[in-house]
Amino acid sequence: MRYCIINCRNKSIVLIGMMGAGKSSVGRCLQLRTKLALVDIDDIVASHFGTSIPEIFSKYGEQVFREIETQALREMTPAKQTIIATGGGIVVGKENMHLLKQLGIVVWLDCNEETLFERAWRSGNRPLLRAENPREAFARMLQARLPLYAKIAQIRVDTSMLTDEEVAVAIVSKLRKLGRNWRPGSPIPPTR
Ligand code: S3P
Repeated sequence: MRYCIINCRNKSIVLIGMMGAGKSSVGRCLQLRTKLALVDIDDIVASHFGTSIPEIFSKYGEQVFREIETQALREMTPAKQTIIATGGGIVVGKENMHLLKQLGIVVWLDCNEETLFERAWRSGNRPLLRAENPREAFARMLQARLPLYAKIAQIRVDTSMLTDEEVAVAIVSKLRKLGRNWRPGSPIPPTR
């Protein structure tokens, strides 16, 4: 393991994963458990436009959404360790991959495909599922993204059989292993 030569005190915990993985709700559980601040990139983008994510997609299109998503990431320079929940497609931009890594420890919330689709579909607010064949569109997106999640993540948690609370506990435990006696707010050594 290579230890950080710069001060990692404000390295954050970055939650990635496909829509339906539970990033926002796990983020809230993690926040309660660690008392760290929580920011959600989708919320930043929504407040930039003053409207919801589905509205942004239908009014401005995906490309504009992606531009502001990247801008939000670029502008993320938390002074303290923060939990950062991201949108499922954030790994698609090359610059985003670099920015995510710089922000801190990347935690991938993985899950089996059926469960992911069911959760995302049930919510009814995923614009990218407004396709002729949503199940197929979802499968295609997931296949393209899986190698990117795997490439960037330092921690992976399979959420298929876990409650949000259990996922939060698993993340804290994996962070402790990674950072030996890590406590919220204390430095987490990077693994690569
Ligand atoms: C997207 C996922 C959404 C949101 C937008 C695009 C994606 O976030 O950013 O609808 O490309 O997978 P969640 O992962 O929180 O659903």
